[in-house]
Parts: sequence; structure tokens; C-alpha cells
Amino acid sequence: MGVAEAFDAVAGAYDGSRRRLVPCFEAFYGTAVEVAGPPLRAALAAGRTPEVLDLGAGTGLLSSLLAATVPGLRLTLVDAAPKMLAGAAARLSADGVAHRVVVADLADPLPAGRYDAVVSALAIHHLDHAGKRDLYRRVASVLVPGGVFVNAEQVAGPTPELDQRYHEVWLAQTAALGSDAAEIAAAEQRMACDRPAPVGEQCGWLVEAGLVDVDCYFKAWRFAVFGGRAPTTFVPAPTGR
Ligand SMILES: C[S@@+](CC[C@H](N)C(=O)[O-])C[C@H]1O[C@@H](n2cnc3c(N)ncnc32)[C@H](O)[C@@H]1O
Repeated sequence: MGVAEAFDAVAGAYDGSRRRLVPCFEAFYGTAVEVAGPPLRAALAAGRTPEVLDLGAGTGLLSSLLAATVPGLRLTLVDAAPKMLAGAAARLSADGVAHRVVVADLADPLPAGRYDAVVSALAIHHLDHAGKRDLYRRVASVLVPGGVFVNAEQVAGPTPELDQRYHEVWLAQTAALGSDAAEIAAAEQRMACDRPAPVGEQCGWLVEAGLVDVDCYFKAWRFAVFGGRAPTTFVPAPTGR
């Protein structure tokens, strides 16, 4: 089963498990929303509708948190799993949030547009490292000057020992939050396809893509929120395509 099929198979139960499987849920998503907020508010202040691209948007968890914090934005949600995206569309429609959904792989060309913020949560680690680097270059090229990219992500430990420790801590925390053996086993099965990279390496790829003010804004073991900003005068790095 591929990654998209694996998520579509659990789409109905996905949201209910999040606060157990992401032990630092509030700070993790909250930080991503804080990082993305300023350019969106700046667009509103300039009389424009802020445009947001959510990569691997799933059921729209991050998109809907952003829309609740910065009312008036327009979202483009990309994901390879149509059932996950259907959940997102239902949620956003019910909340009256302007949006479009695009069923596509993150390796495909990004939906046309210029974005005040490109956001992503727990999705890009499914790409191999070359795919992540290529995506970061393409993300940088679709940001408006001053636009922000933020990735709330599962990252690898910088050493095998730390990576093992990340996993042990996650197992203990998620069990303490009420995950049962079946839920943990299913999550571990999905995680078998993960290809996380250390946060320091990924910040380097963002600098290489041409972003500035690159930083890791939050980190709790495996969960990190990092990103950067397009300079005001932006020259995109070559994509090699
Ligand atoms: C753990 S979920 C995260 C969903 C949402 N961003 C959230 O924070 O709840 C990962 C999502 O990434 C999507 N995904 C994984 N690899 C992908 C790829 N190569 N192209 C498009 N979507 C992908 C999956 O279909 C899934 O919906």
C-alpha cells in the first residue's frame, strides 16, 4: 500500500487520533500558525486576500487552524489522498473558508499561483531527501517577496542514538496520552515509509533554496517547526527542471 492509500484508509479516524499521536500538538501546530501569520496579516492590511498553499494538507488540520486565526484568507490544499482532502473540503466549506483542493503528488508541479505563505505539517518527510530539496526550491519560487514557508514536521535525530531516543520518548508519551497498542502499531506501520531528515540539514536546504531568516522555531524530540522567508527582492535558485 502506498502512502496516500495508507492515509485514505484511516481518513475517517485521522483527526480523532492526532492529539495522542502528536504529543506536543498545541505548541507544534500553534507555532506553525504563529510563523505563518505575519505575511497574511500584511496582505490583509494591503487590501489583498492572503493566499496560502498547504502541502500534504490531509484533512485540513493546519489549514483550518490558520483560517480560524487569520479570517479572510484563501487556501490551496494539495494532497495525494483524495479521501483525506474530501474531509478537508467538508470542514472548510462548513466553516465558510475560501479554498480549493488539488489531488496531486508533492513531486508534481505546485498549483499555479503566488503565495503569501506555504505551510506543511507532517507530510514532506514522506519524500526522499532529493525530493525534499527539490520541493524546497520550488516552494521558494512560488512565495511572494516576504512570504513565509513553515514546515511542522517529524525530523530524524542527528545521530542513530538520538533517533532511537526520539522513538522511545514518542512511544512513552503517546501511550501516556491514551493510545492503545493497536493505534500505536498502525502508526508505526505508516511510519515505516517515513524518510525524515535532521532539522539542521533541512534548514540548510532552505537557505540553499534562497530563503532568509531560516530557523527552527520549535522542537520537542521528533517534532520540529522550521522554515524561512522569501527575501523582499527574490531571485529563485535554479530548479534543475
Ligand atoms: C500525517 S498526514 C498530515 C496531514 C495534515 N497536514 C496534518 O497535519 O494533519 C500526511 C499527509 O501527507 C500526504 N502525503 C504524503 N506523501 C505525499 C506525497 N508525496 N504527495 C502528496 N501528498 C502526500 C498524505 O496523503 C497525508 O494526507
